[in-house]
Amino acid sequence: MRRGPVDRWTGGALAYGGDYNPEQWSDEVRAEDVVLMGEAGVTLVTVGVFSWGLYEPREGQYELDWLDDTFDRLHRARIGVDLATPTAAPPMWLLRDHPEILRVDRAGNRATPGGRLGWCPSHPVWREQSSRIVTVLAERYGTHPALRLWHVGNELGGGNRHCYCDVSAEHFRRWLSERYGTVDELNAAWGTAFWGHRYPDLDHVLPPRMPDEAEPRNPALVLDFDRFSSDALLEHLRSEKAVLRRITPRIPVTTNFMVGTGPHVLDHARWTPELDVVANDHYVRGVDPQQAQEVAFAADRVRGLSPDKPWLLMETAPNAVSWQPRNLPLEAGQLRRIAFTHVGRGADGVLMFQWRASVAGAEQFHSGMVPHTGKSTRTWREVVALGADLAAAAPLAGTLVERARIAVLVDDESGWAWAAGPKPIADHSPTDLPRRVHRALWSRGLRVDLVPTSRLDELAHYDLVVAAGLYLADELTARSLADVAGRGGTVLVTYLSGIVGRDNQVVTGGYPGMFRGFLGVHVEELVPVPVGAVVGLERGWVAHDWTEVVSVDDAQVVVRYLTGRLDGQPAVTRRDVGAGRVWYVSTSLDDAALGELFEEITAGLGILPPAAADAGIDTVRRTGEGTSYLVVVNHGDRPGIVETAGVDLLTGARWDAGCPVPAGGVVVIDEHA
Ligand code: GAL
Repeated sequence: MRRGPVDRWTGGALAYGGDYNPEQWSDEVRAEDVVLMGEAGVTLVTVGVFSWGLYEPREGQYELDWLDDTFDRLHRARIGVDLATPTAAPPMWLLRDHPEILRVDRAGNRATPGGRLGWCPSHPVWREQSSRIVTVLAERYGTHPALRLWHVGNELGGGNRHCYCDVSAEHFRRWLSERYGTVDELNAAWGTAFWGHRYPDLDHVLPPRMPDEAEPRNPALVLDFDRFSSDALLEHLRSEKAVLRRITPRIPVTTNFMVGTGPHVLDHARWTPELDVVANDHYVRGVDPQQAQEVAFAADRVRGLSPDKPWLLMETAPNAVSWQPRNLPLEAGQLRRIAFTHVGRGADGVLMFQWRASVAGAEQFHSGMVPHTGKSTRTWREVVALGADLAAAAPLAGTLVERARIAVLVDDESGWAWAAGPKPIADHSPTDLPRRVHRALWSRGLRVDLVPTSRLDELAHYDLVVAAGLYLADELTARSLADVAGRGGTVLVTYLSGIVGRDNQVVTGGYPGMFRGFLGVHVEELVPVPVGAVVGLERGWVAHDWTEVVSVDDAQVVVRYLTGRLDGQPAVTRRDVGAGRVWYVSTSLDDAALGELFEEITAGLGILPPAAADAGIDTVRRTGEGTSYLVVVNHGDRPGIVETAGVDLLTGARWDAGCPVPAGGVVVIDEHA
């Protein structure tokens, strides 16, 4: 019997490395690369992400000697290879000979060669060509001892989320036919009586091509096209994976997601079952005043997609990126905090874009682990120090993050549904709410699991379940939330949750139609707040942007509005259901008020951080069989104390009670040592 893929990509430690592009460098530099990789403690590099045009400069003519040489050199240096399939960048000859594989945008313009990911996932020529190059690579390198992992394409959907060409249109209709069966079902689901847009048969359906951006399309059509587009890319992933599995059944397969604050281009929860390892790319944004929390949120979001297995941070930047308006360097020590925020939340590897900063090409000012200036740089010193830290933290490999007591539901489709048509408010989105709730809890040291709605059965494990801005929801989600309260748990639902069902149609009878049954309230009117206006509430709380006219059916009013047309009306309600409790928050509370509300709820439930610590210190616990590690990151500018005992893997120091954590520092405590 054939064995399935093994999880040997880490080599039993925490993987460390980055995108490695030897093709951009002389032989002398390549020789130096492996020496420097040794100094930095690099264990795994991603090779060949965009190299098809070099592997096959003309159709059928292969030049792979340099890749053979790269594999051998890396192997001699005991560095593993995460070999990318080079399908993120089709070669120039292919695009010249088959321009029909280039994606068409919604205004009807076909992409031109010179970018990346410009292809249409539905095109048969693309399918055939991409499968062919993947076959060549799998046959040539599948048995090389350095090969640890397959990396399909790169950030699928990043440059080709949608293709509106005729081939895609045909594929979309087949997808619709599978989803709805008959045109009558589709007409009902899409509400096509509106504007008389009824389709006489499925052949009449077109993608939501929109030469005029201002003209709204049917939100159900737009949402289905988003779903289809994610599925079309998923089919592409499956086609590459089928080749890899056939030829190299024991090499695990991944692809790098772009999971962060969102909005997302893929329905990740549908993709993860296809992957042996979930991998993510994450870069901090210079303008985000809450960078540290954003990293934690993104890492928690990825872990929500891979709760039972460690995952891989496939890309982050060792210093500045080159695609923001102002590309600020990281602060001293920030790279280490970023890395351990991901590791604490379940990453078994930290890889970067890229090993050596390029001198040419579209990313010539992007940082590299080896900067333009070379070794006498802060970047290099931090890169080397991080390699040593990750090596010291090797015992964490294979352990899992302890389950939190709080779950916040997340759903990529729900964000698409919100974005699919005009809404009562255009410059405020409920898709930000999971991150705001996460921040309220994170800033109090509390841990949150971000659970996709595809795994509702897991809600049984949580004491507090939050549906924050979950605009689209189905009956199963409603039932699962009601069940949480029914078994004595606490549920909190915010405004703009459960407004539409899976077809993107409003559920009538009072908002949030999908959830009002168990909330004991219904909302009569949605009342956006003018830009800049402040809403006053009882308790001295403040809100902005959003309010609602709430009618109480069977609940207690906890906080009322105090200003404007809603003065005296319910803003936050609570309903006790046996031992369970259900909250409804009808307004966009500011961070202070949201924090106080969650403080009250979590204190009532006795939910505590993994370890008591001073403010600004983040703690996460990873555990294995008989092992327990506390990963501690101090995001503050003052030293602090965390209440834990054990040995710091990074320094070897033993602490019997309070462990000091330097300002901006990291400790990893082996709690069983
Ligand atoms: C990623 C991409 C990399 C590189 C990097 C720069 O999105 O996968 O290839 O472009 O951004 O930050």
